[in-house]
This record gives sequence, structure tokens and C-alpha cells, in this order.
Amino acid sequence: MSRLTDLIAQVKTKDPTLGSDLEAEFRVLSERRVFGLNFERHRPEAVELPQRPVRKGDKVHILPPRRSTGHGDQRLWRVLRTEVGGTSSRIAHLTLLDGDETQTVPVDDLVVVAEFRDTIYPGLRSTGRVEHDGDKPYHTVINAENYHALQTLLYTHRGKVDCIYIDPPYNTGAKDWKYNNDYVDGEDIYRHSKWLAFMERRLLLAKELLNPVDSVLIVTIDERECLRLGLLLEQTFSEATIQMVTSVISAKGAVRPGRFSRVEEHIFIITFGSATISHWSSNMLPSYREEVNNGQESYDETADSEPAPAQIEWLGLRRREPSSIRGSRPNQFYPIFVNIENGSLHSIGAPLPDDLDRNSIVAPSSTVALWPLKPDGTEMLWGLTPEVLRRNWAHGFARVNWNPKRQTGTVYYLPSGTIERIRSGTIAVTGRSDDGSVQGHATSESSVRTPPKRVWNMQSHNAETGGTNILSRLIPKRSFPYPKSLYAVEDVLRFFVKDKPSATAIDFFAGSGTTAHAVMRLNRQDGGRRQCISVTNNEVSADEQGTLRREGLRPGDLGWERWGICDYITKPRIEAAITGRTPAGDPIKGDYKFTDEFPMAEGFEENVEFFTLTYETPWRVARNRDFAAIAPLLWLRAGAQGCRIDTVPDSGWAVADRYAVLVDLDQAKLFLNAVADASGVRIVFIVTDDDRRFQMVCSPLPDQVEPVRLYESYLANFEINTGRE
Ligand SMILES: C[S@@+](CC[C@H](N)C(=O)[O-])C[C@H]1O[C@@H](n2cnc3c(N)ncnc32)[C@H](O)[C@@H]1O
Repeated sequence: MSRLTDLIAQVKTKDPTLGSDLEAEFRVLSERRVFGLNFERHRPEAVELPQRPVRKGDKVHILPPRRSTGHGDQRLWRVLRTEVGGTSSRIAHLTLLDGDETQTVPVDDLVVVAEFRDTIYPGLRSTGRVEHDGDKPYHTVINAENYHALQTLLYTHRGKVDCIYIDPPYNTGAKDWKYNNDYVDGEDIYRHSKWLAFMERRLLLAKELLNPVDSVLIVTIDERECLRLGLLLEQTFSEATIQMVTSVISAKGAVRPGRFSRVEEHIFIITFGSATISHWSSNMLPSYREEVNNGQESYDETADSEPAPAQIEWLGLRRREPSSIRGSRPNQFYPIFVNIENGSLHSIGAPLPDDLDRNSIVAPSSTVALWPLKPDGTEMLWGLTPEVLRRNWAHGFARVNWNPKRQTGTVYYLPSGTIERIRSGTIAVTGRSDDGSVQGHATSESSVRTPPKRVWNMQSHNAETGGTNILSRLIPKRSFPYPKSLYAVEDVLRFFVKDKPSATAIDFFAGSGTTAHAVMRLNRQDGGRRQCISVTNNEVSADEQGTLRREGLRPGDLGWERWGICDYITKPRIEAAITGRTPAGDPIKGDYKFTDEFPMAEGFEENVEFFTLTYETPWRVARNRDFAAIAPLLWLRAGAQGCRIDTVPDSGWAVADRYAVLVDLDQAKLFLNAVADASGVRIVFIVTDDDRRFQMVCSPLPDQVEPVRLYESYLANFEINTGRE
């Protein structure tokens, strides 16, 4: 080995880059395991950034001519300088990175390349938001190469994430993913090695994001990489507990001549620290329960202790999403009369015509009318029509929380999923309150004595009906290959975040956005405020790429990017789920099924903001110019809730709902007073290169406020030097 080390040292004196590369290769080889998974983990990855302007010093690829479907020049070039050429378009002088060749090329024919070891300065640019409940934290969608996005999220979420769910490319050999800007097909002899290197880099970052004390990583996979992934997970997460579930996703099966039909995929569940499964009403293998009922099997009677049974959860009857204002739907604006004496329900009035003043309605004697009003007095709608509410009320499935002092109340109801569970016996009614409303809890059969199995066979997990068909209702005529069943993702997440109503989840292979949608459904089921960060690139499918290239389009052109997954599928799908309307503005047809059934057109009381990851320039960094680029990162770190500080005002400080920023330390006194007055502030960012001044501002801060220091050249705080890889 020492001979090899000497030779490398000699090469380094002549060609430092080649020498360092050889050294890195050597290091990896010498660290290889004798047993376990060996693969080329040192292959460098790089990503093309078609929307990033070309600048001096950049690494670039030369694109093939427009209308060509060829590969272009895949060698890496460095931009020496750019200038305006003869036809007034800009040209770039290039030198080959691994050689002496030089050439001059129109800037339009270049695309910037970021190697994963390059230092980059990430920022986030907002590309829109959907607000349906101003008070809730925002979900976020980030259009980005996930490796860089994960590194960026380390600044905002290191060690804070409760759950990561990923459904990575399965490496089918059918051009379902790219490594180094190139599709990996079945002929590529390095395809498994590339896939493992690709996955390992991202899993290592995921590990840093997860809360080591209590969190879960969920990874789906099929037979093609299942075994290799299992080994990789064991090597990467040796401290965690790893389980594998086999789940039927298409009972009719993919028939393959001479082989077993594929009906299933696998779900690796990696738990950290104290994370355990919260039991739920299903054991995930319903046929097993049938056998049990027939007396052919017995329950495990050795279970230590029984957890307390889950109580019935009631939901507020007033619709909260802004689109549900009075007049937006017929028959859902009516009075509910309540006895003044004790707040019990007296009767339910008839729906009002849109033009009738509600104050003209006379309440029966000794009653007061409750209306679906927001705290600011805006007239909204009830969540049920009067007939359905009357029926539910008669069965004890509606009730009023009465405030005798203020002589007003809040109406609650049980969602159809809960009513169904009461009827099927998986929720036992144990009694009734004074007002007749039911009391009960999940039965021991459903929630205590049937822990989930490791083989799942749930009709709701069918990929076609629960995935593709739901997607086509939300965003008609837009196709996306193999979205997960919404209910399958909802179910697996529930096992880990059911008891964490403020959990943060991340999906960094978000595709069509199923995970964010599932998180919103979970929130609706228990009034939670969970957040989901979805990361996906804006890749155009391989088939479509050919068509677009023949039309003369290239990545980076608007006409190309609009067909990308993030812009064409992910963002519109999440927007449609929240608003209840398709991209064309039509109410979504159909109802959600299974656990919580309601019309998809109702949408969700949730908020989301869309971002694109940007690659900022070092010279702007040096001049403190890019506060705007990092502003969303500060907001994300403070919980992505309430208003955002997008620019630093002339006063030199600003206080938002959840966080505050101090740039001019001479204004510290005013700033600290304002922070003390703002009860919601949890983090303050203090911009200074001076340790002593930083400490002086920190000491008077209230205990619940976390001080975070930022260097004066803002972007330096977020520098990603992937060389440390
Ligand atoms: C198998 S799909 C996930 C589908 C998703 N679970 C759903 O239900 O829609 C994987 C997604 O990851 C995205 N992807 C692949 N490589 C990526 C990368 N390096 N960075 C960001 N996204 C990537 C692809 O665009 C694809 O949409």
C-alpha cells in the first residue's frame, strides 16, 4: 500500500486534481468491507442546473443543438469569461476541466453543472402559496435536486424531523431515474452500484435530519432492489431497529411468464430511539382477523399491558376553509337553536336563502341561534346539511360545547368514518353524556389486541384505485407513473405520527405529492397541525423529453419546464387537494373513502407554500446582498408559520409572528423590547461577526427564545461545501 501512496503523492505534485481523485478512490478501496455490501460509492455525482444563468468560473456542459435528441458534449468545461458576441448574443470562452482544449460557445448552448463536492450557496425562491387556514403552519414543496435540498434542510431541521417517508426510483431498468444527468437503463452494468451510491448519499443526510431520540424513516421498494436496500440500511443505520413489511398493492398481480405474479412491494421501517408503533383499528391483514373469528387462531395473550383505549374524537362543524363562505354552497347556512339554560340542542332551522339577513330569524323562546361564523364575524357554512345533522343528532353523533357566560357554543360532530366504526363495533359506545351524545372508545379487539402484522393486505392500498384514480380526479388528464395509494401512505404514517399532532414529515422523492396529501388527511382526522416538506425535481419524463427536443425545446426553456413533475403534477395536486378544485377550477368529483369519508371538493384547512431551490453567486454573498434568498430558510427554521421577514427594514430589525431578525446591533434595546412584547417569538436571528456583541444581545432574551447567530455575509451561513462528503 505504501508504494501506492508514494505513487499518488508523485501524481499529486504534477496534477493535484488527478492526485486527489486517485487518493479518494484509494481511500474508499482501503475502507471496503470484506463482508456486506460493496459498491462504487465514490463515483462523483453532478447535477445540471438548466435555469441557473451561466457565469464566469462555472462548470458547464455543452448542450446538443436544438432539435437534436443526442447527448451533447458530456465533458466538463470551465467558463473563463463571457462577452457579447458578433450577433449581440453572449458567448463564453471555455477550457476543458481535464485537459488543455479551449473553445468559444454561445452561452445559450451551455448548462451549468454542480458537482456534489462543489461549494454552493443555496437559497429558496417562493413560487406561490395556497392558504386555507391562516393560523396553521405551512406545508412546503421544494423544487430541487434532493441532495442539495436535504443539505439545505440541515440548517432548518437538523435532528428535528419526526418522520421521513420516501418512495425512491425502484431502478427498474426502464429509465425511471437519472444518475449524473443520464438515465440508468437495464444495460448499464453499474446500475446497482449507481443506485446504491445515489441512495446512500441521501440516506446519510436523512439520518442527520431525523430526531435521534424518537423518529422513523420509511422506505418503499420492490423486489428489484429490496435485498440490496436492506443491506444498505443495515450498514447505514446500525443503531436503529429495522423492520420490513410486505404489502399487497395490486391483488390481480403483474403476470410474468414462468414466474410468480408480482402483487406486492416492501416497506422498510427504520425506527430511532424510543419510536414505537401506535396501535390503530386494523391489524392490516383483515383475512387474518377472519380466521381468528372462526376460532382457528388465537391472540397473543402474552402482551405486557394494555394501553389506554383511544377515545372518540369530535370535529368542529363549522367549515374553516376560506372558500366555504356563505353562498358558496346551498343548504349549509342555517341556524342551530340551543337552550340558553344548559346549552343542549333544541332544534335545527331551515337553510337561509343567500339574500336573507340572518338577524331576521327569530329563535324559539329560551333558545339562542348558533351560526357558522368566524371569530371576525364572517358568515361561513356548516359541514353538514340540516337533514344529515338532524339524523346524526338523533343518534347522539352531534353535540354542543356551551359557554354559559358568553351564551354561545361550538357545535361538534362525528365524521362518517367514526360513525362507521361505531356501527361495525370497532368503537364501543360506553355511555351517553347528559346531552345524549355518545361516549366511547376504540374496542380492545380493534386497537389493543390486534397489533399490526408484517404482511398487509388492504383493499385501500391498491395502487390503481387509491393512487392513479385519485390523482386523475384531482388533476384530470395529467398522468404520473405509479403514484402511491393515498390511503397506503396515510396508514403507514399513522402508525408513527398519530400521537404527534405537530409532527414534521419529509418526503424527498415526493413525485405527485401523495405524502403531503396523506399528512393533510391525518390532520383532518384529529385536528392536528402536522407539516410535510415535499422535495421533488422538475424532471420531464423520458418519453416527453424526446417530443420536446424534436420541437426544439431544451431544459430551462419555459415550454419545457412547465411539463416537469414539480410544476405540472406535484404543485397542482397539492393545491387541488387543499382547495377541493381541479386546476381548471371545477369541484373535484368523488369522495374520500375508508377512514374518513367526505367529498374531495371540501378540500382541507391547510396552507402550503411552493419554493424553488436557488444557487446563489459567491460575489453577492460577499456583499451581503442576498437576504431575500435566505429569508424563507429562517422562516422554515422557525416553523413555517405566520408572516415572513423577506427584507430587513431600514430600522435594522424586524419581528414576525414566530421569529425575529436583528441586523443593526445598535438597535438591540428596541429590538429586545419588541421581542419581549411578542409572545409567539421562539427564535431570534442575530446578524453579527462579533462574539461579544452576540452574547450581549442573547443574555436578556426570555428562556423560551432560542438565539441563532448569522454571519454578516448572509449566505455564508448556508454554505454547502459538499467536499466534506
Ligand atoms: C417513485 S416517484 C415517487 C412517487 C410518489 N411516492 C407518489 O406517490 O407520487 C420518485 C420521484 O422522485 C423524483 N426524483 C428522482 N430523483 C430525484 C432527485 N435526485 N432529486 C429530486 N427528486 C428526484 C422523481 O422525479 C419522481 O417523481
